[in-house]
Amino acid sequence: MSQWIEWGMNNHFIKAGVIGHPIHHSKSPIIHGHWIEQYKLNGNYKAIDIPPENFEHDVMNLVEQGYGGFNITIPHKQSIFSLCDKADDVARAIGAVNTVQIVNKKLWGTNTVAFGFIENLKSQKDKFQKDKPVLILGAGGAARAIIYALMGEGFKNIIITNRTMDKAHDIAQMNPSIIDVLPWEKKSDGLKNIGMIINATSLGMMGKGNLDMNISSLSKNSIVCDIVYTPLMTPFLIAAKSQGCAVVTGIGMLLHQARPAFEKWFGVMPDIDDDLMKKILL
Ligand code: ATR
Repeated sequence: MSQWIEWGMNNHFIKAGVIGHPIHHSKSPIIHGHWIEQYKLNGNYKAIDIPPENFEHDVMNLVEQGYGGFNITIPHKQSIFSLCDKADDVARAIGAVNTVQIVNKKLWGTNTVAFGFIENLKSQKDKFQKDKPVLILGAGGAARAIIYALMGEGFKNIIITNRTMDKAHDIAQMNPSIIDVLPWEKKSDGLKNIGMIINATSLGMMGKGNLDMNISSLSKNSIVCDIVYTPLMTPFLIAAKSQGCAVVTGIGMLLHQARPAFEKWFGVMPDIDDDLMKKILL
């Protein structure tokens, strides 16, 4: 192959995006757009509105348009799984696909949420207490990915609580020998021995309800983490910080989960710099 052809092939325009409905609120185009510019790559990343009734047709249209792949957000998080020709081990273990890579017109699904969560959490790695229980609030898709990540990191005692108990019991099936279920009404009890609490619900997010939880008995050696990032410091994190706990905000999880997706499409594992952080927090 001549060098020119090789260069031309390697430098082809790469199209990627995020699909959802509505989609105008998505921060993903800012994140990926920043990296495309930073690494001087030949491509773009767009927010693509796909209403549920057009889902399959519009996704196949992206394939025909030569897209390299896309992220998936509400309301397509479930429907995308069955459209994938292949889903990797992580996506199958979590039961959800948030990233698709298109290879030879085939859809390969993966899930980068667990990676994003654990990379963000590692900012407090020196405070990990793996022998102590981790309490997780929530039993949605995010909670499932978080539990997968914690198990991978070697946490051996996980307690899950959720408003809808059935969903918590369902998630506990991921590994019943290390995951216990706690009634939602008891979430403020017995926190003395808890090494880490993670809010994986939408409570605390601007415009949503508040997380009604008393954490005054939590040790200051514990880590408190929130997946909500609007506001960056949720009332839950403010309370935890004021009693001396280490806190982890949700913004890093959003940014870190974008990194392996970007690498799949554009071939570069990007870094999170201050400029990107500023753009996202604007
Ligand atoms: P995600 O994919 O981000 O996890 P999700 O699957 O919709 O989103 O999950 C949202 C989580 O927030 C769930 O655990 C939900 O509790 P239910 O399973 O009982 O619905 C939780 N949540 C949302 N609003 C809540 C509220 N007002 N009180 C308690 N939990 C709430």
